Amino acid sequence: MGLLEIKDLKVHYPVKSGFLSGKKSHAAVDGISLSLEEGKNYGLVGESGSGKSTVGRAIVGLERITAGQIFYDGTDITAALGKRKSGHKRNVQMIFQDSSASLNPKKQIGQIISEPLQNFEKLSQQEEKKRVSDLLEMVGLTDEALNKYPHEFTSGQRQRIALARAVALRPKFVIADEPVSVLDLSVQAQVLNYMKRIQEQYKLSYLFISHDLGVVKQMCDELAIMYRGRFVEYGDRQDIYLNPQHVYTKRLLSAIPNLDPLNRKLHKRLRREIESEYKQSMGSYLAKDGRVGDLLPLSETHRIAGKPSKGEL
Ligand SMILES: Nc1ncnc2c1ncn2[C@@H]1O[C@H](COP(=O)(O)OP(=O)(O)OP(=O)(O)O)[C@@H](O)[C@H]1O
Ligand SMILES: [Mg+2]
Repeated sequence: MGLLEIKDLKVHYPVKSGFLSGKKSHAAVDGISLSLEEGKNYGLVGESGSGKSTVGRAIVGLERITAGQIFYDGTDITAALGKRKSGHKRNVQMIFQDSSASLNPKKQIGQIISEPLQNFEKLSQQEEKKRVSDLLEMVGLTDEALNKYPHEFTSGQRQRIALARAVALRPKFVIADEPVSVLDLSVQAQVLNYMKRIQEQYKLSYLFISHDLGVVKQMCDELAIMYRGRFVEYGDRQDIYLNPQHVYTKRLLSAIPNLDPLNRKLHKRLRREIESEYKQSMGSYLAKDGRVGDLLPLSETHRIAGKPSKGEL
């Protein structure tokens, strides 16, 4: 059992136009299970609207859970997550794509980073100051940042500040929802490097949320591929990148931008081929109502949503 266990999680949003569609709710997340072990990194990848952020937000208590359970260290914390100041929340933190929205623009960086410390730990003023300085240093900033406001920093720096705040309480897990997708490539690499370094120091685990399999490749030990609120494939890095079995995963892989100009033509052709395979065969991977089936094992590490049996793939 993983330190963080998510069991058959469902998050359904009420639908206003139920009268026209006949639907009263929209299943943004429709029965997913994840077992997250200490020290490993995980990826949650799928197209826009597949339900990735909703999973992340539900795990940290920002979204109401319709059904399912979340366990931390064997304890069911599902009910506690709904409460504002649950002690469990310190173990699982989240950072978001848009740090200009997630960092309060009216607060100085010193306040922003010390907030979680003040909420959860009783530190003397001096201890708090030291912890905040250490956190800033860890993300490549100095005490000069303390009295500045978020808008005085670049978006890469702001994302590092959000990271410093997220790890202030030394959580075991950090859910990173598209943490670098609005950044330039060079800045992306820099922020990911800080994330790696912090992981080595704090021994934490990340759950990376991304629409781009390329971005999370170097960071993830295991990946879940999400489509319409369900997982279509789950595997370790090798399974997903070298031996993808679901046509949806193959399509996501073919969408990774190819930076090598010599291979660009070939890449374009492959992408077209997979796109046509996807159009032709995606339906055969789904149940009649369009729903994704349950994951079935292909190997000890690799699972694929069941519809066609292994022999037919
Ligand atoms: N508060 C809400 N009320 C109603 N529907 C919502 C709400 N939040 C999200 N949804 C819907 O739930 C589905 C999943 O949304 P979610 O934001 O989790 O997707 P995502 O995979 O994170 O997408 P993106 O890559 O665009 O961030 C989408 O169809 C979205 O429109
Ligand atoms: Mg999202």
